[in-house]
Order: sequence, then C-alpha cells, then structure tokens
Amino acid sequence: MAATDLERFSNAELESRNLPLGGHVGFDSLPDQLVSKSVTQGFSFNILCVGETGIGKSTLMNTLFNTTFETEEASHHEECVRLRPQTYSLQESNVQLKLTVVDAVGFGDQINKDESYRPIVDYIDAQFENYLQEELKIRRSLFDYHDTRIHVCLYFITPTGHSLKSLDLVTMKKLDSKVNIIPIIAKADTISKSELHKFKIKIMGELVSNGVQIYQFPTDDEAVAEINAVMNAHLPFAVVGSTEEVKVGNKLVRARQYPWGVVQVENENHCDFVKLREMLIRVNMEDLREQTHSRHYELYRRCKLEEMGFQDSEGDSQPFSLQETYEAKRKEFLSELQRKEEEMRQMFVNKVKETELELKEKERELHEKFEHLKRVHQEEKRRVEEKRQELEEETSAFTRRKAAVEALQSQAFHATSQQPLRKDKDKKKS
Ligand code: GTP
Ligand code: MG
Repeated sequence: MAATDLERFSNAELESRNLPLGGHVGFDSLPDQLVSKSVTQGFSFNILCVGETGIGKSTLMNTLFNTTFETEEASHHEECVRLRPQTYSLQESNVQLKLTVVDAVGFGDQINKDESYRPIVDYIDAQFENYLQEELKIRRSLFDYHDTRIHVCLYFITPTGHSLKSLDLVTMKKLDSKVNIIPIIAKADTISKSELHKFKIKIMGELVSNGVQIYQFPTDDEAVAEINAVMNAHLPFAVVGSTEEVKVGNKLVRARQYPWGVVQVENENHCDFVKLREMLIRVNMEDLREQTHSRHYELYRRCKLEEMGFQDSEGDSQPFSLQETYEAKRKEFLSELQRKEEEMRQMFVNKVKETELELKEKERELHEKFEHLKRVHQEEKRRVEEKRQELEEETSAFTRRKAAVEALQSQAFHATSQQPLRKDKDKKKS
C-alpha cells in the first residue's frame, strides 16, 4: 500500500471512529465499537512449547517475538516433566498482549517415558478447570480474568529425517482433543532439502495413520482461505531459530552463520519460519483463540458438567432444573456414601472375626504349651520327690549304720579299756 493510500485509509478510519455529534448514526459503527473495546481490554495468547531439551524452543520464541525472554537452560536430569509458565506483557502500537509461554521442561529426558504426556495434559486441564470455576462463580469477572488456557501447542519434532518417535505420537494423540497442535520440525538447517521434503511427507503420513488431529488453518473465511489452504500443505513447518544478526549484502538479517554459509531465518528458501510467524501471529491468532474456547474448552466443560450430573433437556421433556440435578446428585452421593460405609463396616466385622479366630488359635496354643509345661513340671517334681525319698532313706540308713558303728565302737572301747585291768589282775593272781 502506498504512503498516500495509507494516509487516506487512516484518515477515513479516524473519521469513522470519531463520530461528530449529529453526524451519521448507524449500526455500521458496531465493528469499531468492538475494536475499541477489545483494544482497551487487551489480549492474551498462550503458547505451549513441547519438545526435547535443547531442541531450540527458547530460541524460536525469541525469534518469533523479536525479543529476549529470560529463560534458563533446562538440565537433562529432571525426574519428570515439569511445566514452566512465564508471562510477558508486550505492546505493539496501542495493542496490549499478555503472552504466556509455557515450557515443558525435561520432556523426553526420562528413561521411562510412558507418563511424559501426563503433566502436560494435567496442566492444560487445570487451566480449563480454572476458567470453568470462574464461569460458575456467582460473582464472576470474566472481563478482566487472566485467561491461561493454552491456545496453541508448538510441537517440536527432532530433525532425524527418519520417522516420528513413539513418544511424539503418543503425546500428540493425548493432546489433540485438548489443544491446537502445530507440529514443527526444529533445527531444520541440520537436514538437507531433499531429506526434509521426504521427512515432511512421512510425518504427515504417520500422523494420519495414527489418527492424530493437528490444527488445520481455517479455510472457511474467504479473506484467508487461499493462503491458509496453501499453508496447510506446507505442514509441518521446518523452522530455524536465531537471534544473531549477520550482514548479508548490505542488510543485517537474523541468521545462523556456518563456515560454509549463512542460513537466513526469514528467507523462505532456507526455512518456513516466515510461514509459521504469518500463520501463528498475523493470520490465525484469533482463530486459535476461538478454537480453544469453542472446541477444546467446550469439550472439557461438557464432560465435566456431565460428570457432575448435569444434562440438557431434550425435545418436549421438562426443562433442565438445576435444583433437581443437585438433589439427584446429592442422593447419588449419599447412597454411594452409605454403600461405602456398609462396605467398610463389613470389612471391619470381617477383620474383627479374623482377629478373634487368630486370638483363639493363639490362646489354644498357649494353653497347650501351658499343659505341656505343667506335665513336664509335675514329672520333674515327681522325680525330685523320688530322689528326695531315696536320699532320706540313704540318710536314715547311713544314720543307722553310723549308730551301729558308734555302738560297736563304744563296745570295742569298753572292751579294750577293761582288758588291761583284767591283765593286771591276772598278773597279780599269778
Ligand atoms: P531447553 O529450554 O534447555 O530445553 O532448550 P531449548 O529447547 O529452549 O533450546 P535453546 O533455544 O536453548 O537452544 C539450544 C541450542 O540449540 C542453542 O545452542 C541454540 O543456539 C541451538 N539452536 C536453537 N535453534 C536452532 C536452530 O534452528 N538450528 C540449529 N542448528 N541450532 C539451533
Ligand atoms: Mg529453553
């Protein structure tokens, strides 16, 4: 657009926005009212970056928004995947954008990767839940609510040239009903042009055969249908990120310089960075926001409300009653509680019976032991008694023998003491 056209356009725009009193009044000013309301309110846009550690997530974000977000490098030793959201306030002209970049830190670093997708799914659900809670509040303030729902997930594919890893397929499959996925081949400068072409075809084939739904740029709006249809055929975008500026000709461009040449980030012959930026920021940002609300959040909300017992009335049936649903859910909850209580009581009774049986068995064993010990003790006592009697008999026999010996001794003593007398007498007689 020439400069004069631009001036005319802006003047016309200004005129239509500053309506003079008594001037033209019509509902054609409605779009302007919407624009000014949205501009005052500001926008929020939330990007989730999923990809292996060091795949180039932060560099691409910096390149996309032409700024330097403070991010620290992730270590390769995280125990599990952790989501790290960072919010920045950006301003372009008079439009305020609250941008949140969420990094899936440690993705792909664990030995067991079975549950790698779970923290990501939980994070997305938690943002939906927060929004739903705000909606259900009596005094809700959705107007100034900071919407943290993820509008787009940039899925960074490692440029192997082979095929998608099973981790990629599983994760994308788990995420596709919750978020708009745009797959991108990261570090596309490390793969040759012919290989890249084959790689792209292979990736798309694998996504289709595994039933992974990626985000399709909308083709129902005439103004962007053509460009979006062309871009859909270019998916997944092969991107290169760099914040380094290199002189090419007499211009400074963002590029990666190698001993054999320069890869220019914004050169469409070198990579699809410009296509990604156009699609993500200039053409489809609002569609991504809308799809998040009308498709993914709606699905979450429907499942959640159905889970809570709400349902829409159908045909001629009675209109849906919140009170009745509440009562029904309460009854269901109470009967479930009763069932659980009964189950626990039964369990308790069984446990008591089991313990009683065990105690009885123990008592019986103890009793047997006691009886046995008693028998042993009596036997011992009997033997000791016999021994005592034997000893007593021996003692009395001994005493008897001793008395006999003593008697004998005294007799012998008497005999020997009288013999010298008799001898003396005999001697005198003779
Ligand atoms: P973590 O946040 O630690 O997971 O890493 P990250 O995914 O944010 O990667 P980061 O942007 O920190 O880049 C890691 C390395 O890859 C840096 O040395 C970058 O210079 C390099 N790098 C980033 N983008 C590209 C690219 O497009 N091509 C090539 N060849 N290297 C890149
Ligand atoms: Mg990073």
